[in-house]
Amino acid sequence: MHQFTKTLVTTALPYANGPVHLGHLAGVYLPADLYVRYKRLKGEDVIHIGGSDEHGVPITITAEKEGISPQDVVDRYHRMNHDAFLKCGISFDYYGRTTSRVHHATAQEFFSEIEQKGIFVRKTEKLFFDRKADRFLSDRYVTGTCPICNNSEANGDQCEQCGTHLSPLELINPKSKLSDATPELRDTMHWYFPLGRFQEQLESYVSQHEDDWRQNVLNYTHTWLKQGLKERAITRDLSWGIKVPLESDEAAGKVLYVWFDAVLGYISFTREWAEKQGKSERWKEYWQNPDCRLVHFIGKDNVVFHTLMFPAILMAWNEGRESGCYNLADNVPASEFMNFEGRKFSKSRNYAVYLGEFLEKFPADTLRYSIAINYPENKDTDFSWLDFQNRTNGELADTLGNFIKRSVDFTNARFDGEVPYQCTPEDWNSLGINWPETLEQLDLAYEGFHFRDAVTLGMEIARAANRFLTVSEPWKVVKVDREAAAKTMALSLNLCHALSIALFPVMPETSNRIHVMLGFQGSIEDLVTPGKSIVAELLLPGLKKGHKISPRSEILFTKIEDSDIAPELRKIEELLAEAVKRESGAEQCRMEFKPVISFDDFLKVDLRVARVISAETVKKASKLLKLQLQVGSVTKQVLAGIAKEYTPEEMVGKNVVIVANLAGRTIRDEVSEGMILAVEGADGKLFLIEPAGTEINGKQIQ
Ligand code: 2FM
Ligand code: ZN
Repeated sequence: MHQFTKTLVTTALPYANGPVHLGHLAGVYLPADLYVRYKRLKGEDVIHIGGSDEHGVPITITAEKEGISPQDVVDRYHRMNHDAFLKCGISFDYYGRTTSRVHHATAQEFFSEIEQKGIFVRKTEKLFFDRKADRFLSDRYVTGTCPICNNSEANGDQCEQCGTHLSPLELINPKSKLSDATPELRDTMHWYFPLGRFQEQLESYVSQHEDDWRQNVLNYTHTWLKQGLKERAITRDLSWGIKVPLESDEAAGKVLYVWFDAVLGYISFTREWAEKQGKSERWKEYWQNPDCRLVHFIGKDNVVFHTLMFPAILMAWNEGRESGCYNLADNVPASEFMNFEGRKFSKSRNYAVYLGEFLEKFPADTLRYSIAINYPENKDTDFSWLDFQNRTNGELADTLGNFIKRSVDFTNARFDGEVPYQCTPEDWNSLGINWPETLEQLDLAYEGFHFRDAVTLGMEIARAANRFLTVSEPWKVVKVDREAAAKTMALSLNLCHALSIALFPVMPETSNRIHVMLGFQGSIEDLVTPGKSIVAELLLPGLKKGHKISPRSEILFTKIEDSDIAPELRKIEELLAEAVKRESGAEQCRMEFKPVISFDDFLKVDLRVARVISAETVKKASKLLKLQLQVGSVTKQVLAGIAKEYTPEEMVGKNVVIVANLAGRTIRDEVSEGMILAVEGADGKLFLIEPAGTEINGKQIQ
């Protein structure tokens, strides 16, 4: 395995179109922070780059809904999310914005380079155009009736009610969200990135990571590779975004697709970070240096953008270059999802706990701990208020907090606030903790992105420490054997110190408070010198005899009372009740069936495929068409109520399905000898069931 000397960590750029919630924190930002903080403790050179994704159609939709500008929307959510992350202790080295000057220049530079190399493909396609608004409509700007569940407010890309992914062309009665007008189809030219051109290179890249990438990441990636990579449009007809950097008429009104620009944000923000330090070329040490490890933390919905799209863009840039080549990701630890009280977080349904709001009520470290210990590494996990309460009260307050406070208080009460004994390595190894093994496991857990294991190990040390102090009973022993009690307290204080370091990545604020109670000033990170791991130092007891601790102890964790979470539980109940109501409403519209018939009843219906040989309108019956049908060797006349949807000319030559044994009846003086099958769309329009194929012989349909 390559020995890297630096690490560049990136976290998915959240859209600045709404507040981040606990699901985002659990899948991306907290794990990245744990990883980065651990590496810093090891004295490694690591930077964490993140920021806001400030382009994309949903942002302009929000702006239009609220009557403000897209810039106002992104300003609001960029600030809100950045503040929430800081309050939660997510230690970004830089948190940028894709609306920045540097980012626009970087994304345009990439577009121009790939365009100049002749790699892009240009294609013309048909898109809905709103004449009133004088704009092409991206998927999200078209609404209409879902062809699957009849929801009359389906979006052009997806129906929120039944979850079906749609194209705007599939919507019944499409309408423009801008003007409510029915849009028309018009030709438009776009730039496409030919992902297929990089198929082999990407396969070879992915094959190098078969052993170190997560299974879910490999699965998503292989599925795409197996299907054969297709070209992807990387421009859009929009005004909000990064302009296509060409002077030609065909580039007018076009911007880069938000995903093309967003992934490049990682590079732009590293450039900005370097500039801010006054070392503007320093970003290259992280991006264009094969000894730097690139790691993207993302959620599972973003996998292929990071394992295929972004690497392909970088490959296109690197092609034919001797120098200035970009590194490809060494790992992409994509998480599964964290659910909330058994259901998926959903911003659109407001079924979420937002990070900023949460931190107004509860401290960051208790949240970080509860989330990290439920990290959705290989499967979806769940956050519940009760679990949060139990862990805070039990593991944090009763075990960890109690141990630290007892150690500090008793040392102050009976040993003048000093470490009263010089612990030897043998003493340290007599605690029932196998330090070499524990530290190795901790390292493997962090380096392998197994964050639940890492945090669990930390808590196991706390449990062992708490047990040791309780069983040793120094408050009794001190009366008869002061030396033995001194040894117990020296070991306990050393355990406090070890815990403050081992738990620092997950609970940095708490760890620093322990650090201060142990008589240190500043932060635990101040102990680090480059290239030297303070975690590895835990192999030996770190506090010497005579070390002065603080005369004051603190209660590290306040217990959560039932009354503290009661309003939250009530809110969940209301949200769940709403969701159930909504779902049962949708269910009902799909479930209004006629009474059940037996199989024998069904067999009585003689269904045949027939060909329409002639069709004509019926006088004074504007809905009816008179059809002559060939059913095998027999001809039948059927009157069908489809004249609003089909012209006689359209009908001739069609294959249709006919109920051939329906009793004849006379309509408008004409005989009808059967019925043809059609289905009704959401707007009441009929669609014929038209069997495909050429060998139509009129046999009964089984
Ligand atoms: O899914 C999202 O929220 C996207 N804004 C993530 C972008 S990740 C990267 F490309 F920047
Ligand atoms: Zn639907």
